[in-house]
Amino acid sequence: MTKRIAVLASGRGSNFQAVIEAIAAGRILAVCVALITDNPNAYAIERAEKAGVPVLVLDYTLFPSKGAYEHALFVAMQQQKADLFVLAGYMRILGTAIVQAFPQKIVNIHPALLPSFTGLHAQQQALQYGVRVAGCTVHFVDENLDCGPIILQKCVPVLKDDDEDSLAERILIEEHKCYPEAIRLFCEDRLKITGRNVRIR
Ligand code: GAR
Repeated sequence: MTKRIAVLASGRGSNFQAVIEAIAAGRILAVCVALITDNPNAYAIERAEKAGVPVLVLDYTLFPSKGAYEHALFVAMQQQKADLFVLAGYMRILGTAIVQAFPQKIVNIHPALLPSFTGLHAQQQALQYGVRVAGCTVHFVDENLDCGPIILQKCVPVLKDDDEDSLAERILIEEHKCYPEAIRLFCEDRLKITGRNVRIR
């Protein structure tokens, strides 16, 4: 059955674009019911409008507190009646109440091979550490940062002249394949979570 997907993004939205293109091409059996953003200047908004995806802007700076923002976000997420929430460059940490309200229904993509290099500037962290292989991870979201059960990972080589931008670009190419693939598996009910492990059926 067709799933309802809502995407949360804060910026450029190239992963969001990859997902809506995969839906349009029939590779993911889903409808994207909303783009929710905390940033009124996010380029993802233009992408959504072009694709006919409804946009909901919750401008973080207009809320009196993090709690007030989180409450509005929680209500907005509930209203979507989504089967899956896709964090696509959503640059805030989701509060515990939200994570607990949607168990195994929120996925994230992170530009590192988790559990290494959580948080911001993951590609720069990888370069500084001196790893030879970097990559991206799609995972379910739990209460801890960049920590939930892993669905898919893809790796790329680190080249000797890499800087943060060149490495990020190489990883992003893989993100755009990996994220739609993971969402496709979810939408086909092929992911079974046992503890930390995700089995692909
Ligand atoms: C992507 O590289 C994504 O993995 C990363 O932000 C970028 C967003 O790009 N996310 C995180 O670092 C979250 N911890 P996009 O807006 O073009 O999809």
